[in-house]
Amino acid sequence: MRLAILGASGHGKVVADAAEQCGWRSVAFFDDAWPCLQANGPWAVEGNTEALLDRLMDFDGVIVAIGNNSTRAAKQAELLASGGKMATIIHRSAMVSVHATVGAGSVIFANAAVNACATVGDGVIVNTGAVVEHDCVVGDFAHISPNGVLSGGVALGSLVWVGSCASVKPLIAIGEASVVGMGAVVTKDVPPDVIVVGNPAKVFEPRN
Ligand SMILES: CC(C)(COP(=O)(O)OP(=O)(O)OC[C@H]1O[C@@H](n2cnc3c(N)ncnc32)[C@H](O)[C@@H]1OP(=O)(O)O)[C@@H](O)C(=O)NCCC(=O)NCCS
Repeated sequence: MRLAILGASGHGKVVADAAEQCGWRSVAFFDDAWPCLQANGPWAVEGNTEALLDRLMDFDGVIVAIGNNSTRAAKQAELLASGGKMATIIHRSAMVSVHATVGAGSVIFANAAVNACATVGDGVIVNTGAVVEHDCVVGDFAHISPNGVLSGGVALGSLVWVGSCASVKPLIAIGEASVVGMGAVVTKDVPPDVIVVGNPAKVFEPRN
């Protein structure tokens, strides 16, 4: 089983490690910084996006390891359009309920939990130790950072980024492409395209 990972980042290293632990025999990286970038930790970088598109059929699965949600979505669409078989990587120490669903191109990292009747979309990152409680709906290309907690029945729009150690009250809805700052405690619905921080979380107004 050969896996190609697009995105030779720190996040990519964690995806590669999780993939090896769940049975992928070999991992090759591709990144647009190639040929300057030749390695990502212990793994070789074998080419850029174009090279990967040429070699897609050499791999049993492909996944995008890019933290930026919009870029990850665009790259996954490009790979799918060229016939790539999107992998889903679930670390062996993660707990994913048999009554939950996890979409194509998503990663569930070590010690994360996805509980009963949760729906995790395509290209989602459920990072180390994050919790997606029962009945949550996580939109495509969202990211729940390490130790982020979505309580039961939370709805995350597509492209939402929940920062490290943030927590979200049950049944809250967070609009598309919004950002929840690290450590925030979200107690009310969040509109699309805003940043919220603090406890209780409020919309963050950048100074400029
Ligand atoms: C909220 C966030 C997106 C803002 O980023 P930014 O626009 O670059 O903001 P800055 O770092 O310039 O900080 C601007 C101000 O907001 C404050 N601030 C930033 N993040 C904050 C947070 N999470 N909670 C409370 N205040 C925060 C800063 O202290 C600073 O305050 P000051 O102007 O009084 O000094 C970012 O800080 C954040 O929380 N990102 C999530 C990081 C994360 O969890 N990564 C995990 C990767 S796996």
